[in-house]
Amino acid sequence: MKSLAIDSGRLQHQFADLASISSAPAPVVTRILFSEADLRARQYVKQLCLEAGLVVREDAVGNTFARWPGRNPQRPAVSTGSHIDAIPNAGRYDGVVGVLGAIEAMRALRESGFEPARPIELIVFTAEEPTRFGIGCLGSRLLAGALSPEKAASFKDGDGRSLEELRREAGFGAQALQTVRLAANSYAAFVELHIEQGPLLEQENVPVGVVEKIAAPSTLRVRLTGVGGHAGAMLMPERHDALLAGAEIALTVEQAALTSGSPDTVGTTGVFRIEPGAVNSVPCRAWLEIDFRDTQLSTRDAALRRIEDSVAQICKRRGVNFELERLNVDAPATCDSALIETVVAACGQLGLPVKRMISRAYHDSLFMAQVCPATMIFIPCRGGVSHRPDEYSSPEQIKNGVAVLALTLARLAGSSR
Ligand code: GLV
Ligand code: MN
Ligand code: MN
Repeated sequence: MKSLAIDSGRLQHQFADLASISSAPAPVVTRILFSEADLRARQYVKQLCLEAGLVVREDAVGNTFARWPGRNPQRPAVSTGSHIDAIPNAGRYDGVVGVLGAIEAMRALRESGFEPARPIELIVFTAEEPTRFGIGCLGSRLLAGALSPEKAASFKDGDGRSLEELRREAGFGAQALQTVRLAANSYAAFVELHIEQGPLLEQENVPVGVVEKIAAPSTLRVRLTGVGGHAGAMLMPERHDALLAGAEIALTVEQAALTSGSPDTVGTTGVFRIEPGAVNSVPCRAWLEIDFRDTQLSTRDAALRRIEDSVAQICKRRGVNFELERLNVDAPATCDSALIETVVAACGQLGLPVKRMISRAYHDSLFMAQVCPATMIFIPCRGGVSHRPDEYSSPEQIKNGVAVLALTLARLAGSSR
């Protein structure tokens, strides 16, 4: 194998191209599942995969697979990948580094003369972000069998449109959602390259992180129904204001995180919509989505129970009706120790220091870890900033990550020469 040449210029052009495919003006990147921007971004990435000589297929939920078959195409593949959907008001690197980086890693390996002994496959997962249906990792959940296809088909977005309807409209209707789940032993390993989305690598001036554990995420949805009315005429003792019940719930979420006993607990009320939304009208309905996480399942679950008890008490006291739904309550993932050592060895080969770390953000790796041995490669991002338009990793930081990914994939897939 000749030495590995990662083409940073080519990659940077691709980051700019993909960032320009957005529902919001630059520098904001917004690509919600099955929006026009999401569909165009999928086309762009598929074209890159074809140009890289990869064999492309898509499943019934739009997960995209781009395969380098290698010398023994029947053997379980080594897989890599991430997502290209982006939350409202996002930046250009979350997820995208692991997709464009994987294509570049495979191109660089091929150009170096490497021929894998087993397939290497990129997976571009559908809707890692929860924006449309309130649940993250939709594609990888279905691949892992962690979500039933029947339940997924019935998911409704904020406009009342179902996943079943939307996936058909997006062109993925030829097969049923039941076909998405992976057969046993489909993959030998999964390695995801991603920006850290936290400050540690930058603060410690370490170019690469390898992930040992992914924190346990959960999402609650609370629908509140109070009594609306005229803001001038309805006296205060008569009120059953849905917004005020929601506001108390949001504060309870903060308290539950602050008092859990673990510094790793985080709670966020990231969605809070009210109706009718008129300045002179008492809010009659509120809709909250609450994100709650910890590295320890027991701590997270105890805090969730406290939040749920508080919701009931607050609503009773205020005479507001509530419906509470647990959209997801996931376990943490433990990454595979042999894979971690493979990443560490790849870093050693490149002379790059590496830090073992926890991922506080969730990723499709959380579910791929249920399918096969999995780990993640992190690169620094400026100020630890993510889920914002000013998210940034430098060309050099990305190049390092891609080189580590390429050598890791090569070690896992084995050379046939
Ligand atoms: C993923 O985007 C997360 O919210 O952790
Ligand atoms: Mn994200
Ligand atoms: Mn991501």
